[in-house]
Amino acid sequence: MDSGEFNKIAGAVLGAFLLFLLLGFFSEQIYGVGHDEVLAYAVEIEGAETAGAETETVDLAALVASADAAAGEKLFKQCSACHKMEEGANAVGPYLWGVVGRDIAAASGFSYSEALSSKDGVWDLEHLSAFLENPKGYAPGTKMAYGGMKKPQDRVNLIAWLNEADGSPIELAAAPAETATDAAEAAGAAAETAGEQAATAAETATEAVSEAAGAAAGAVVEAAGEAAEAVQGAAETAVAAATGAFADASAEDGAKVFNKCKACHTLEQGKNRVGPYLWGVVGRPVASAEGFSYSDALKGVGGEWTAAQLDAFLADPKGFAPGNKMSFAGVKDAEDRADLIVYLNEADGSPAPLE
Ligand code: HEC
Ligand code: HEC
Repeated sequence: MDSGEFNKIAGAVLGAFLLFLLLGFFSEQIYGVGHDEVLAYAVEIEGAETAGAETETVDLAALVASADAAAGEKLFKQCSACHKMEEGANAVGPYLWGVVGRDIAAASGFSYSEALSSKDGVWDLEHLSAFLENPKGYAPGTKMAYGGMKKPQDRVNLIAWLNEADGSPIELAAAPAETATDAAEAAGAAAETAGEQAATAAETATEAVSEAAGAAAGAVVEAAGEAAEAVQGAAETAVAAATGAFADASAEDGAKVFNKCKACHTLEQGKNRVGPYLWGVVGRPVASAEGFSYSDALKGVGGEWTAAQLDAFLADPKGFAPGNKMSFAGVKDAEDRADLIVYLNEADGSPAPLE
């Protein structure tokens, strides 16, 4: 072939290619939908640059006041090629049921671009409007191949419809002045209620205190005397317990110490021997094992087997409750007692806190 013919063929091929590109470009602009995802993507980036250049501020809240959801429903035709208004129904794009107020990139089962999935926040009026106006400008790299909806009122109409379509619309935008007044009113009312409540509470408290004070004063004096005595006694015997000996105590070592008790005690609930069963003894009321017949001396102790009480008893059984029938000399070593008490405490599977 001569070079003239070659040029013609080359020209025809190039022309066809250009036409193909242009068709792609125009179909994109006219329908807002690419017939081929890859091509649509490439073309969209150019479109985005022009669109991104226009920045205007729009009072969206004012537009919401005159929003027309029915008009918005018609506009949704521009989206329905890729989006369904049905929960869970992802298509080319994620389902839009409930999208207003939904977290960005949160439709379950949809695989979002990094551009959207890396965004925080919620699809509120402002974000939706910005995204729909210029998807590529709002989220560069998004795979939503849609040119954008330029008219603010169109966007607000569409958002109003998206908001209502799921049957549970959220507040898109409240007139700011109204909100402020409402808030101020509410705050005022709350303050009043709080004030009233405080006054009532104070009155009640005052009454209660003066009543209680009279009754308590006598009791306190008595109790104080007893307490002083008790403290003195406890201080002598419960040193091991009080000095935090339990922190270092070992239940394992305690199990060995318990060998000294086994002749007379079991750790099984209900199984009394010479002595009462010791299952759950830590925190148990003194002299309360069912079926065991205690001495009056032990019954007279009262209270519960706290760690400190046990420590005192085990250090010197006869001294602690003179006349009790446990014929056991006691465990003299404080560390052994602490180990033993931790062991007893844990043996029932529900240890009480030891202090
Ligand atoms: C050509 C297909 C296509 C068209 C047309 C389209 N979208 Fe999308 N849309 C997508 C894809 C794909 C995504 C996911 C984007 C991403 O992951 O980057 C998306 C994402 C979205 C999101 C984000 C949802 C979310 O869960 O975070 C919203 C909102 C949205 N589109 C609304 C619309 C609306 C409203 C229209 C119509 C005006 C529309 N889209 C038109 C494909 C489309
Ligand atoms: C020789 C038998 C004997 C030995 C050994 C013995 N105990 Fe006892 N223990 C008794 C008897 C009997 C009583 C009941 C005392 C009473 O009612 O006066 C008792 C009572 C107790 C009580 C009070 C329980 C309650 O229900 O109030 C505890 C706690 C106790 N023993 C722990 C021990 C521990 C721990 C050891 C080992 C370090 C031990 N005992 C060793 C016979 C023994």
